[in-house]
Amino acid sequence: MIPVEFKPVRDLLTFYLESGVDVALDEVPADRFADPALSAVPAEPGPPPRLRPEPRLVAPAAAVQAPPLPEEAIMAARAAARSAASLEALRDIMNGFEGCALRTTAKQLVFGDGSPQARVMFVGEAPGSEEDQTGIPFVGRSGQLLDRMLGAIGIARSEVYIANIVPWRPPGNRDPSIHETQICLPFIQRQIELVDPQVLVCLGKPATATLLGVNDGIKRTRGRWLVYKTDTRDIRAMPMFHPAYLLRNPIEKRFAWRDFLAIKKALAG
Ligand code: URA
Repeated sequence: MIPVEFKPVRDLLTFYLESGVDVALDEVPADRFADPALSAVPAEPGPPPRLRPEPRLVAPAAAVQAPPLPEEAIMAARAAARSAASLEALRDIMNGFEGCALRTTAKQLVFGDGSPQARVMFVGEAPGSEEDQTGIPFVGRSGQLLDRMLGAIGIARSEVYIANIVPWRPPGNRDPSIHETQICLPFIQRQIELVDPQVLVCLGKPATATLLGVNDGIKRTRGRWLVYKTDTRDIRAMPMFHPAYLLRNPIEKRFAWRDFLAIKKALAG
C-alpha cells in the first residue's frame, strides 16, 4: 500500500513514463531556457526579460553545435567503420562517434556480446532499458528467452555473438528512425564482417529489412535461408521472430523452435 502523501509523486512518475521520460540523465533537473547559449533573452541591463525566446529564422551565433546532416553522418560512419581492423577498434571508434544523436540520451554504447569467433551471430533492433543500464545486448526478458532457446539446441550464449542494428537505446524504447538506422548501419555491417559468422540470424522485421533488404512481414520471411553479402563473401542468413514478439505471442514459439533446429543443422553440416 503506497502512503497517500506519495500518490502525487507516483502519478507524476507514471505520467513521465507514459510520455517516454523513463531515464534520469542527471541528479538535478537542467533548465534549458536558462542556458545562456540557448536563450535569446539579453542579460541586464536591457529591456525586461521575455518569458520565452521569440521564434527565430536563423540559428543564434553561439548556439550549441547542430548535429551533422544525416548524409554527412552516414559518410562519417562509413569511413570510421571501414577503418576498424578489429572488434576492439570498432568499439572504440563507436564510443567516440558523435554523428548519432541517440548517444546523447542513452546511458552508454551497447556494442555486442559473446564470442568474436562465433559461428552464429544474432542481430536485433536496438537496446532496451536493461541493455542501456548494463551495456550488454539482450539481457532483459527478450534476452533471457533467447538464452533459453539457444540452450534448447545445446548452444551456450557465450558461444554465439549478439549485437543490434542501432547500438544506443532510443529514448522511451521508441523505434529508431530511418536516419538513425542508416547512420548506424555501417557499424553493424563492419561488426558482422569482423565476426564473420557462418550463419547470421536477423531477429525481427527491422533487422531483416535493414540487413537483408527484405521488407515482407516477418511471418513470411522467418525460417527462409537468405544471403547476406559482405565485400569478401556471402553469409547464410535467416530471419527469425524477435524474442519480444514471442513473449507476446507464445503460440508462435513452435516456429522459432523449427528455425533454431534449422540453424543447428546448418552449423552441423
Ligand atoms: N531488443 C533488441 O532488439 N535488442 C536488445 O538488445 C534487447 C531487446
